[in-house]
Amino acid sequence: MNGRLEQNLHLIDTLVKQSTSVACAGLDIIVCPPLVQLAQIQQAAQASNIKVGAQNVAAYFDDGAHTGEVSAPMLLDVGINFTLIGHSERRQDQAEHAEMISQKLNSAMQAGLYVILCVGETLVERESGSTLAIISSQIQSALSSQQHLQCDHLIVAYEPVWAIGTGKTASPEQAQEIHAHIRNELSALLGSDQAQSISLLYGGSVKADNAAELFSQPDINGALVGGASLKADEFIAICQHAATSLNND
Ligand code: PGA
Repeated sequence: MNGRLEQNLHLIDTLVKQSTSVACAGLDIIVCPPLVQLAQIQQAAQASNIKVGAQNVAAYFDDGAHTGEVSAPMLLDVGINFTLIGHSERRQDQAEHAEMISQKLNSAMQAGLYVILCVGETLVERESGSTLAIISSQIQSALSSQQHLQCDHLIVAYEPVWAIGTGKTASPEQAQEIHAHIRNELSALLGSDQAQSISLLYGGSVKADNAAELFSQPDINGALVGGASLKADEFIAICQHAATSLNND
């Protein structure tokens, strides 16, 4: 819920100009603005390689009397091909539970959306030593009963809840440990070839000055950026670190 239309149009215009620089070549850049701004932001991004996604999608129905909901087919109908699912703020603030997240993924995959599935532990969970079990449970509950899963439409984002918007970042080693664990979980569920092909993003206070170290980890394939995406220069600097890491692989 950041930014009004004028502000966010200015932001996307700046990103479009800067992202056409050679330094961002080869990257997949997806921005997920507030729902009401999707059409205008998408239009502004049209002349660039920046793709536009939603922050949320309906779980149980594609059509009908479900006031306030927006379904995956409705997003696709207006040219939106990506969505976040299971961001921790929605898990906490909107009480999105595991079964609902699994249904959202099912609906999105059935329709053909690309999904960024978010997982992550709270501080209490980390301090009680249950991080790996929580991550396993979030991955398994989201993926194990999918009927339409397309692995090439799936991206997984690890976002420790204690690092989102707090200025605290997981150390590159902490993040890598969890990413490797996610890769193993995906491998057990989907097979190792599929698991290797799925991009794993780290999110939680990613900034220009910590991005390079995070991207240098073998199982970190990109970032899910919140606060730093609201400043064009900072976001583009993160993209450039991603491009450098991509070119070094
Ligand atoms: P942050 O947010 O980068 O501001 O920590 C991440 C997110 O909202 O997913």
